[in-house]
Amino acid sequence: MAFVEWFEFQIPGKVICAENAVSQIGGELDKTGGTKAFLVTDEGVEKAGLTEKVIDGLGSGEAELVGTFKDVPPNSEIQVVQSCYDAAKAAGADCLISVGGGSVIDTTKGCALLMVEGGDLIDHQSAVYMPTGPVPPHIAVPTTAGTGSESTFAAVIKDAEQQVKLIFQGPELAPTIALLDPMMTLTLPSGLTAATGMDALTHCIEALHSEMHEPICDGLALHGIRLISEYLPRAVRDGSDVEARTYMMIAANMGGVAFANAFVGIVHAMAHSVGGRFGVPHGVANAILLPVGMEFNLRYVDEEVPSRYRMVADALGLDVDEVEDLDAAMKAIEFVRDLTVELNIPQRLSEVEVPEDGLEAVTEDAMVDGSMFNNPGEPEYEEVLELFKSAY
Ligand SMILES: [Fe+2]
Repeated sequence: MAFVEWFEFQIPGKVICAENAVSQIGGELDKTGGTKAFLVTDEGVEKAGLTEKVIDGLGSGEAELVGTFKDVPPNSEIQVVQSCYDAAKAAGADCLISVGGGSVIDTTKGCALLMVEGGDLIDHQSAVYMPTGPVPPHIAVPTTAGTGSESTFAAVIKDAEQQVKLIFQGPELAPTIALLDPMMTLTLPSGLTAATGMDALTHCIEALHSEMHEPICDGLALHGIRLISEYLPRAVRDGSDVEARTYMMIAANMGGVAFANAFVGIVHAMAHSVGGRFGVPHGVANAILLPVGMEFNLRYVDEEVPSRYRMVADALGLDVDEVEDLDAAMKAIEFVRDLTVELNIPQRLSEVEVPEDGLEAVTEDAMVDGSMFNNPGEPEYEEVLELFKSAY
């Protein structure tokens, strides 16, 4: 294991995990000082009756609900965040509740930023966000177990004009409370359960191979991998398995905290680009690209990638005691590939509406994606293009 000379680990907000935790959201909101709550969600979550549970839970406290925004698309956009902010401002909100997947939670982070700064969201991208005033309290209620966005410092928002995903980040963007309630994920269809779960697995594995890896994140990521390998297949097979849903929410959260500090790498850089340009769902893109990116990173022997993948293999429960690092790593990669087949996730980019003549454009986007800079080595353009072709 590489000698750790220096690292920084920051803990995001409070995490609460319990069956029916949303029934207590009002009391939790009171503790944050929020009094006028604005709820952000999407149509699917609303139709599934999940926002209603949260609104009922507000009765456990004093805060009143002053408005709702339910027009968040699967890959949120700058303009959506601006509209959400306009609605929250018009409603006189002083605190936020997000109920949904990563896109909803990230939209709400962007809204919180605009409630402090006003103006155009796009002016705040890339640099670390330093608020000029108090950021409003935000309780995130995830309805998927994948993004970990409820406990990360970043919001990924698409710039529709340029067809790329932009990253807004800073410790102050982490939600004040992550409210993990497995009952909020019971109605998530198996395909989405599988894809979002693979996003969580990708966070854990990329936090381990990132050049910013460090022991605290290693611990979170490795236990996340253990939980995902055990509970993701169960949650996909039977969506009403509350134990599996609970552990998947915890694993996704651990992966989120791990990558919020250690960051991710080439897999996310490539997944962001096919998501930004061709709308490939984030979890599906990661599931397709994770084994490809891992295999590529095996060349970074000096950065100890093979031995770090041995740790992954161990956490996956594979018997690798008697084999070399490289063979152990290959077993881990094979496991990941087999898992995506078992979970019935598309295997190739050609199956998810990425046009073959778009591979050069997504390569260009991936090369400048922020996640690429924390990969253990720096791939060349031609190498990334080859990876996209091999995943096509
Ligand atoms: Fe992700």
